[in-house]
Amino acid sequence: MTGDEQLAVESGRQFVGAERVDALMKRELERFGERNPRSKAIHDSAGEALLSGVPMNWMTRWPGQHPVFFDQARGNSLTDVDGHRLVDFCLGDTGAMTGHSPKPTVEAAAARLEKGITTMLPSEDALPLGQEMTRRFGLGHWQFSLSATDANRFAMRLCREITGRGKILVFNHCYHGSVDETVATLVDGAPQGRVGNVGPPVPIAETTRVVEFNDPETLERELAHGDVACVLAEPALTNIGIVLPRPGFHDALRRLTREAGTLLVIDETHTFCCGPGGYTGAHGLEPDLLTIGKPIAGGIPTGAYGMTDEVAGRVLDHTVWEAADVGGVGGTLAGNALSLAAARATLSEVLTDAAFERMISMGERFEAGVQAVIDRHGLAWTVTRLGCRVEYMLGESRPVTGGEAAAAFDPGLDALLHLYMLNRGILMTPFHMMALMCPDTDEADIDAHTEALSEAAVELLA
Ligand SMILES: Cc1ncc(COP(=O)(O)O)c(C=O)c1O
Repeated sequence: MTGDEQLAVESGRQFVGAERVDALMKRELERFGERNPRSKAIHDSAGEALLSGVPMNWMTRWPGQHPVFFDQARGNSLTDVDGHRLVDFCLGDTGAMTGHSPKPTVEAAAARLEKGITTMLPSEDALPLGQEMTRRFGLGHWQFSLSATDANRFAMRLCREITGRGKILVFNHCYHGSVDETVATLVDGAPQGRVGNVGPPVPIAETTRVVEFNDPETLERELAHGDVACVLAEPALTNIGIVLPRPGFHDALRRLTREAGTLLVIDETHTFCCGPGGYTGAHGLEPDLLTIGKPIAGGIPTGAYGMTDEVAGRVLDHTVWEAADVGGVGGTLAGNALSLAAARATLSEVLTDAAFERMISMGERFEAGVQAVIDRHGLAWTVTRLGCRVEYMLGESRPVTGGEAAAAFDPGLDALLHLYMLNRGILMTPFHMMALMCPDTDEADIDAHTEALSEAAVELLA
């Protein structure tokens, strides 16, 4: 029994037995097979032309014998090829936090499609979009990429260039996209490539320092080496479950990075869920650079990175304009007219201040529903909310580091809960029990999740 399990037993909280999980998994797999014959047929034949039968390898990571193929997605639900309506709390892992195919974005994109998609020239949407980013996030100089991964990659390159330092620092169990330097974890106090890290160019310790989130003392020690160009941080971890910053952590992070001459890059790709200006806007953070992607153009590929006046000045001083096209920052389609038109419409008409108010209140309802189930059944779980994003995790207490969150993870139970929900028409974010609200999420759909979770709890503890 782990320490956490012991604690739970002593406090009368309930853990779920592995045998029970296995038995329910068997039953749910059968149910999944019966429910999804068309998806199975497509997947079986897709193997002829696609590696593992999917267009992107991580799509194999859904529970069930094969992924469910979807037909249509609108608002907060989608219809799969077997005709089931699924309430979508995954929302493309934030790419569809706007709801699927939001009307203003679709209309702006459709108009743009008729008038030129990509030209290598700037379009008129760029300025109002940049101004809106500044209004929301408080940084005055923006550039656009095609993904959050690229926004992070470019931001990091710029930080290395202007500081003349070679390393970056990230928090244990972070995820910032497929950026070489960030695919790292902490093993016995030393940086190590993550399990499954494909083809790292050099050992991760050569490029990256890793510390636990919420640990300013170790952060200070690692920054003291004087070789860290930037800290790249989600303001709350969201990719190993949600790990919230402890009071005072962000003040310490900002003070220590300033003292060390290290730039602070805040990645708002997921924490945008905290409000119109993300966690940064909601909590008054002062990053040197800010990166974002996924939902800002309603699902049309777009990323962005912004910087302060001071950083912008240094970047301009270091830019070799004659070689700006081959310097390692940018991309031919980055800043294309379609992405900018979609982003402008999304920010001005979809992810508005009023929309966030509603989404966050739906998040509160979701959180309250999960908490009620935990309390009613005495489950040794916690629920954490970050704006309109909610996560339930195993364990008696909320983790304060990525390492603790990883240790609490139970892959068997996690897979079962995902499958259980999917079989009842509810799509949760894969990899952990996370739910995101979009402007179309409504009370009935949230309550359907609460009911399904309650039903699962009864069965798990039977
Ligand atoms: C915090 C964060 N940053 C960046 C990314 C990369 O996003 P993308 O894969 O769209 O480039 C992710 C993806 O999950 C993320 O969670």
